Amino acid sequence: HRIPVGIVGAGPAGLLLGHLLQRAGIESITVDIRSEHHVIERVRAGVLEQTTVDLLRDVGLGGRLTNEGLRHEGLYLAFGGVRHRLDLADLTGGRAITVYGQNEIVRDLIEARRAAGDWILFDAEHVALTHLDTEQPRLQVRTADGEETFVCDYIAGCDGFHGISRASIPSSALRVYEQVHAYTWLGVLAQAAPASQELVYCLHDDGFALLSMRSTSITRLYLQCPPDERLDAWPDERIWRELRIRLQMRDGWVPNEGPILQKGLTGMRSFVIEPMCFGRLFLAGDAAHIVPPTGAKGLNLAVADVWRLARALDEHYRTGSDAALDAYSDAGLRRTWRAQRFSCWMTSLLHRPEGATDFDRRRQRADLEYLVHSRAAMTSLAENYVGFPLD
Ligand code: FAD
Ligand code: DHB
Repeated sequence: HRIPVGIVGAGPAGLLLGHLLQRAGIESITVDIRSEHHVIERVRAGVLEQTTVDLLRDVGLGGRLTNEGLRHEGLYLAFGGVRHRLDLADLTGGRAITVYGQNEIVRDLIEARRAAGDWILFDAEHVALTHLDTEQPRLQVRTADGEETFVCDYIAGCDGFHGISRASIPSSALRVYEQVHAYTWLGVLAQAAPASQELVYCLHDDGFALLSMRSTSITRLYLQCPPDERLDAWPDERIWRELRIRLQMRDGWVPNEGPILQKGLTGMRSFVIEPMCFGRLFLAGDAAHIVPPTGAKGLNLAVADVWRLARALDEHYRTGSDAALDAYSDAGLRRTWRAQRFSCWMTSLLHRPEGATDFDRRRQRADLEYLVHSRAAMTSLAENYVGFPLD
């Protein structure tokens, strides 16, 4: 088969890229090693920047997002048993975030791509990239029905942190920047009405806790745990006990409790490769960079990457100019490092490191006090959190 663009990975990055290309009249195929069910059900991100919401609406994906997404014009920073509200909209000239599960975006994208007659292959048994240093890179896919080779003009590596795209690039062609943060997040989804209409990011002496949500009846909660924590060390009673300890406020506010529907652990890592491409292979989303989740940036960065990549490919096919493709990596890295610094800063602001001294604790408290009492500091957090416009 000849196909202009081969897309590896049907997560939010790969699916949205295919959607944008389809709208530009560029044919693509998307392959994933997981099942459609798995890709849709995976519980992950929930916070969309204003920039992401605007983009999704502009490209015809605003239906359910507008009806079911929860627009939040503020968030809370909690410490010392008190919640402090940051008015994101007031601080940013009306911008806000929207809570809408990543799995809902994936569901909407799969539906849109099916309706457009696009080609998505789930359940691939094996995926490989070859001829990457030529003008005709190849995407080899083995499924239960046999093996196919797609000869492409371009390949988009949208296969996440553990995918094969980045691993197919000779290591001498990449520079890797990496830092592992010494925390794990225990995340739970609970059948309980969120006790707050806006997110509560909390620092307690026992560590970070976060109250988020997925709908008016589902609460999403996270707890900082030591690295290498085991899930079986956290029976439901212990999770609620710890959430009550960390999130209980002096005014009596506590999260609502209910049956735990799902729980999981997430390691915290910072990772960036430079450049975000090799020949005609372009990496986007988690395949190219990972940020710690505290700033809620991962999914939003993936969306910004594929928007830029789709625009560059469109320019190539429409005008023959490769200027935007040539600029893809540099522009992506500027946005990535900005998100990286914000995510690392939010992480250190709100997590308690193992072995913190009394000095560390007081300084961290002073950072938070300054933040909630300085409009300049709040504005800096807010403009990063709601997302910068696409360049
Ligand atoms: P992925 O979602 O990882 O998708 C990659 C796809 O590639 C997968 O479907 C996978 O099956 C497939 N694949 C893997 N290997 C291969 C292969 N060899 N061949 C073919 N396909 C392959 N981000 C935010 O912006 N806001 C948040 O609030 C937020 N919260 C998070 C909370 C948690 C607990 C976690 C884990 C992440 C969170 N993130 C958040 C990050 C966000 O989920 C990711 O950044 C996002 O999923 C990246 O999308 P992606 O399409 O690049 O990668
Ligand atoms: C959620 C995840 C995050 O990483 C974050 O910073 C805020 C909210 C969430 O899953 O709802």
